[in-house]
Amino acid sequence: MSATLAIAGGKPLRAKGWHPWPEYGEAERTALRRVLDTRNWGGFPSPNAEAGELSAEFARYVGSRFAVPCTNGTLSLTLALQAARVTPGAEVITTAYTFVGTASAIVAAGCIPVLVDVRPDTYCIDPDAVAAARTERTEAVMPVHLGCAMADMDALTEFCARRGLLLVEDCAHAHGAQWRERGAGSIGALGSFSMQSTKLLTAGEGGMLTTSDPTVEQRLQSLVNCGRKEKGYDGFPERMLGHNARMTEWQAAVLREQLRRLPEQHERRAARIDRFEKAIQGVPGLRPAPRDARVTRRTAYQYILRYDARGFAGASRDDVIRALQAEGVPCAGRFYVPLNEDPLFAFDPLTNAAIRAGVDYSKQVFPIARRAAYHESIWLPHPLFLGPETDVRDLADAFAKVQAGADSIPRRDADAG
Ligand SMILES: Cc1ncc(COP(=O)(O)O)c(C=O)c1O
Repeated sequence: MSATLAIAGGKPLRAKGWHPWPEYGEAERTALRRVLDTRNWGGFPSPNAEAGELSAEFARYVGSRFAVPCTNGTLSLTLALQAARVTPGAEVITTAYTFVGTASAIVAAGCIPVLVDVRPDTYCIDPDAVAAARTERTEAVMPVHLGCAMADMDALTEFCARRGLLLVEDCAHAHGAQWRERGAGSIGALGSFSMQSTKLLTAGEGGMLTTSDPTVEQRLQSLVNCGRKEKGYDGFPERMLGHNARMTEWQAAVLREQLRRLPEQHERRAARIDRFEKAIQGVPGLRPAPRDARVTRRTAYQYILRYDARGFAGASRDDVIRALQAEGVPCAGRFYVPLNEDPLFAFDPLTNAAIRAGVDYSKQVFPIARRAAYHESIWLPHPLFLGPETDVRDLADAFAKVQAGADSIPRRDADAG
């Protein structure tokens, strides 16, 4: 007989919390004290001491020639387009299934986000949809490496090279991921990273750009530093209107220590995920995130399971999410919804220049992204895979318990997506 589900009045499988994030220790304390004592706290002069060291270390880690720190992973995408001199008004093709920042950054660069659907296996941008969406006005393609997958960089690199399009990787989820042994962020002309609190590498907030093009790097240095041309960063002819997007020394110092922790954290998570995938093998209605042999280092910002209601007595994905949450599992279903249905991508003509330009996103439909968002995906945050091995057991047991008691999950009508 199965145990009574917590959502039906039973005892939650997991009463205690999960592994705390971020991890830190004496190394971060020492780094912060070091910055404190220098009285050199800000990002100016740019790049400042810690930020300069971090740049070199991050570039080496990713395998790009240069890395330029900045304030966050939204502005970094805008800076990428500006540094590559994308024309305002040009179209930038990106995925409909991402965080709003991917699209709002394109708008902030004066460009038009053209949203396309994702692949059913990876939930990353569909290269065929990219090809179909390309017009004379397309200048760039911006894939997102989503959750624990990578966009098909073979197809996208080939397409962009053939069409002369800029390829910018949004790597906000993918610090350290590798495609055919090349780091995410080193494959396209530019890579963009977020160091916001939940990310695999974090200082609470922060961003990073990667490139191997020295002119682009020089422009980035200028763009993050109010348009200044500093000695050593003046090797390009233009003058551009810049931003103050400098990273503080506090952030850079913490990130340097966090970067040292990252390889071991990747290994720990990967081992726990392997174990979790084995443990849920016998649970009907759950499919593990797909593997692609070309992804030579798989990272997991969020581990995304595929849900099939037929294995759970017909309960909707959202009903099952609620049942899992009641068991103490901090999972999400609607982590993202298709951007044209996301209230954050507001169709406000005063703040959204794509709307002012006459784009009508409201009638567009992205069936694969919709299915993922409303019916199929279960998002598990990465700290679930950093704790002791008993955490993996609890996690798998929670899924098995909810599946076994699926008949008793209260059904709600509001799930229809
Ligand atoms: C895919 C994606 N792109 C861009 C961003 C924006 O990064 P940030 O929050 O640092 O501005 C995020 C972060 O939430 C993200 O998940």
